[in-house]
Amino acid sequence: MKILLLGSGGREHALAWKIAQSPRVEKLYIAPGNAGTGITGENVAIKATDFAALKAFAIEKGIDMMVVGPEDPLVQGIYDRFHEDAATRHIAVIGPTAAGARLEGSKRFAKEFMMRHGVPTARYLSVNGTTLDEGLAFLETLQPPYVLKADGLCAGKGVLIVPTLQEAKRELRDMLGGMFGNASATVVIEEYLDGIECSVFVMTDGLHYKVLPVAKDYKRVGEGDRGLNTGGMGSVSPVPFADDLFMEKVRARIIEPTLQGLRDENILYKGFLFLGLTNVKGNPMVIEYNARMGDPETESVMLRLQSDLVDLMEGVAHGDLDKRELKTDTRAAACVMLVSGGYPEAYQKGKVMEGLEAAAATGSVLFHAGTAVKEDALTGKRCVVTAGGRVLAVCSYGATRAEALRQSYRAAGLVTFEGKYFRRDIGFDL
Ligand code: AMP
Ligand code: GLY
Repeated sequence: MKILLLGSGGREHALAWKIAQSPRVEKLYIAPGNAGTGITGENVAIKATDFAALKAFAIEKGIDMMVVGPEDPLVQGIYDRFHEDAATRHIAVIGPTAAGARLEGSKRFAKEFMMRHGVPTARYLSVNGTTLDEGLAFLETLQPPYVLKADGLCAGKGVLIVPTLQEAKRELRDMLGGMFGNASATVVIEEYLDGIECSVFVMTDGLHYKVLPVAKDYKRVGEGDRGLNTGGMGSVSPVPFADDLFMEKVRARIIEPTLQGLRDENILYKGFLFLGLTNVKGNPMVIEYNARMGDPETESVMLRLQSDLVDLMEGVAHGDLDKRELKTDTRAAACVMLVSGGYPEAYQKGKVMEGLEAAAATGSVLFHAGTAVKEDALTGKRCVVTAGGRVLAVCSYGATRAEALRQSYRAAGLVTFEGKYFRRDIGFDL
């Protein structure tokens, strides 16, 4: 089978690593990929949202399956665009239709969907420029801190958690006034849910589903979960509080009503569904839906998935996911993200990276997030350089979470580049 994977981050390198292990794969392309995916498969210089170029490439190369890593192409309707065209209709797109991706693309839609289908989530009100006064009044009914969410996609930056009522009112006005452009023309105001979070990943063919290993990510740049939000500084799997009882509640109260709700609304959804959950006194509540896998959770989750991912994705495409096997490694997995100094604010790129082979030789698995290959103009020698804020996910197995983390930190110490930073306390709260 020929597979085209879209995206360029650590998530995509982890997916590529797992896909490449399948005996069914004849050829794996990644568009646009990074220095790591270029070793696992063949990179193609096409943006994940350039549908015309992707279609032409898929037809030319005889692609059988296209796996969509990031949310943008899904929200922009890549599934639909491939399906409405006779020349690409036969390609199995792993990812929901645009209608399904609205669960991620519109926070307002997601909240209304949860209300319609009885999925437990925080109390909320959506407001726009004409209903500002109602929003201000709703804020008065809530306890601090206050949660304000831009309705549309904001590259992970559209959620504000504000400590005082006065600031919340000001931020609400600013958001509606265009703080995130059109994405915050509508704002969801939410009650704050106090609890510990986890990420649950569901694969579904629209009818059947399988739950991948549960993970937890660490979004803040600073130790002790302090400082600015990032794309993710690390992850661990499994998550101890996501035990059988908790997961039974997740299935009965969240996964099944969500998938039934999609069917009832005639929304075709074949792909990954990511549930961002908070454990409120033993009860799972939905913080958010995403229409894709998480980053950097995928890096830990792929380590723990023993079954053939391509077989599972074929089940998604063919509608017989119930016939496929999902086996999980009993070991723990941990991922520590090495980032560029200054990230998530301004940082420099193009720093030469060393020690990658030495780190991999210790048994850790390195997934590239923001890297590129650079050729020296004079010597022609090729080296790997930093090319993003999040640079490298250092992932490891361990008999326990602590052991997996220790191994990742050992390997992380061997990789060098100017400005390297990482959190030393991944998993601290479990
Ligand atoms: P994201 O939507 O991924 O940018 O992240 C938003 C983050 O804000 C979540 O991961 C939570 O940590 C936090 N958050 C969102 N909604 C709530 C809520 N209702 N209560 C508490 N924390 C929230
Ligand atoms: N790790 C959270 C996300 O991918 O949105």
